[in-house]
Amino acid sequence: MLQKVSKAFFHILAGSTTLKAIASRYGMRQDGFARRFIAGETIEEALAAARATEAAGPMVTLDYLGEAVASIAEADTATRAYIGVLERIAAAGVERNISLKLTQLGLTTDRATCVDNLRRILDAANAHQFFVRIDMEDSPYTAVTLEVFETMWQQGYRNVGVVLQSCLRRSETDAAHLNALGARVRLVKGAYKEPKTAAYQSKVDVDAAFVRIMKVLLSGGNCPAIATHDPSMLAATRAFAVERGIAPAAFEFQMLYGIRRDLQAALVREGFRLRVYIPFGSEWFPYFMRRLGERPANATFVIRNLLSERRR
Ligand code: FDA
Repeated sequence: MLQKVSKAFFHILAGSTTLKAIASRYGMRQDGFARRFIAGETIEEALAAARATEAAGPMVTLDYLGEAVASIAEADTATRAYIGVLERIAAAGVERNISLKLTQLGLTTDRATCVDNLRRILDAANAHQFFVRIDMEDSPYTAVTLEVFETMWQQGYRNVGVVLQSCLRRSETDAAHLNALGARVRLVKGAYKEPKTAAYQSKVDVDAAFVRIMKVLLSGGNCPAIATHDPSMLAATRAFAVERGIAPAAFEFQMLYGIRRDLQAALVREGFRLRVYIPFGSEWFPYFMRRLGERPANATFVIRNLLSERRR
């Protein structure tokens, strides 16, 4: 219940331009509050975070942040920027794995343009042997995101995967379909405030669905990614893998940069495959607000950081 209210509250705040202006001014300073969750605004900072993460054992996926661009021109700029990012990652020698959002490539403006932009990125990614994960946004975009993914799959692209959210009622069916395709799926609980018609509203139901879908993906999926910081979801996954004799190499865990580093280290120590999602770029505000919405206690840390800024 608390998480539901807090997701809605921080979703409203995410639309505030005043708050965005304050956050942008202070959040990314040397010890700014946003640095806990975001690697930095530049590709150099992201690469430094990726190297440090890889040195500690986990694999990485880099997300050049951006979403809901307002015009075809902005979508084109984001696409070019992403292709530039691919080249920088390839040259740096860190793992070639990125995550992106379709509304960053123009989905809200024009679907055909978005598909073209995605194809441009997938072609560049193919040339450099990258894997591209299409993040899942809020439920108005679920069907279209899966359709765009499947279009690419039918056209022969195999360096691409997608995300399912256990909060959505439709996701179990989607998981079975994606398994049948042979597609690579990341399973998450879902970061957005969703309506009752589309989504389970209680944590118990979202968690129960997560476990059911995890079992579908581990049993018949292609290298599924179980993305969560929830110890009970991790335990359920590990127990199911042992029960079914599924090797740790057949799946991976994923966690977000800056969250539950203790669990990240423990999984690596125990020999599990773990990938850390590293977001970077100047458009970090909506991503950051979603992280606050998941755990309101994070907001006290932000307030303390802002107060100490004002005392300087
Ligand atoms: P839950 O919210 O129950 O949290 C379990 C525990 O994790 C908490 O008790 C706390 O200890 C810790 N925790 C969780 N969030 C925290 C936070 N913000 N700050 C501090 N501690 C926190 N969502 C989506 O809709 N589309 C997507 O494409 C993705 N992609 C994605 C990639 C990866 C790699 C991960 C790990 C997550 C996503 N998500 C996502 C986000 C996901 O939907 C979900 O909102 C968060 O992972 C939080 O849910 P948990 O499974 O961690 O459980």
